[in-house]
Amino acid sequence: MTSPPYAKRRSKTYGGINPDEYVDWFFPISQELKRVLKPTGSFILNIKEPAINGERHTFVIQLTLALKQDGWRWVDEYCWHKKNSHPGKWNNRFRDSWERCLHFTKEKKFAMYQDAVMIPVGDWKKKRFKNLSQADRERNKSSLGNDFSRNVSNWKERDMVYPSNVLHLATECRNRGHSAAFPIDLPIWFIKLFTQEGDVVLDPFIGGGTTALACQELNRHFIGIELNKDYYDLACSNLGLL
Ligand SMILES: C[S@@+](CC[C@H](N)C(=O)[O-])C[C@H]1O[C@@H](n2cnc3c(N)ncnc32)[C@H](O)[C@@H]1O
Repeated sequence: MTSPPYAKRRSKTYGGINPDEYVDWFFPISQELKRVLKPTGSFILNIKEPAINGERHTFVIQLTLALKQDGWRWVDEYCWHKKNSHPGKWNNRFRDSWERCLHFTKEKKFAMYQDAVMIPVGDWKKKRFKNLSQADRERNKSSLGNDFSRNVSNWKERDMVYPSNVLHLATECRNRGHSAAFPIDLPIWFIKLFTQEGDVVLDPFIGGGTTALACQELNRHFIGIELNKDYYDLACSNLGLL
């Protein structure tokens, strides 16, 4: 689980990577991650391409393709919706309010504990189940061949449902002191989904230690790597290791 340095952004607080060189920079790191990841493990890459000269850079797309060519499976893309970001606009687009969380694995079959991230069904249930059609009562196999099928009436008695792949999380974080920390609920969600107690989680760009804090909370072991001594000290302090 990681959020690597942004492309060229916040370069005053830590080294930014030139977007044009991002794939070449990250690719050898991804190979090491593939080497140490268990066959049943998952790699979550939180990343977002900036707009440069009025258009989005394509390095995340190029990186995804490079990882696939290197043997990774690109299972899904989760969207982290930053629900507290202010609305606004640039000349030719609106303000960024989401980041990608790319999910890669080594194998088709990998560990995933979907029940660990179930959410309360919410009020939509009352309206949706008021009048069930015949189609709602049958298991409809998707014609798209994407393994998705449903029998809506099965959900009638349930209070908990599976979430979607859009995570609505505020950007606030407990881990102050790092300008690019993600909220602890982000690693908590993925760590619950893809690991169990006692498993090991690696964050190769640990910053202020948010992923490790999530591991402490969830009884997972952690390994963090950090280049900047100040952030290393911050992470150790946040984790009660100093
Ligand atoms: C986006 S921040 C990670 C923030 C982290 N998720 C948190 O919540 O605090 C990226 C971090 O990677 C570190 N970094 C940059 N290049 C690195 C490298 N080659 N090896 C290890 N860490 C590196 C930076 O110092 C920075 O703290």
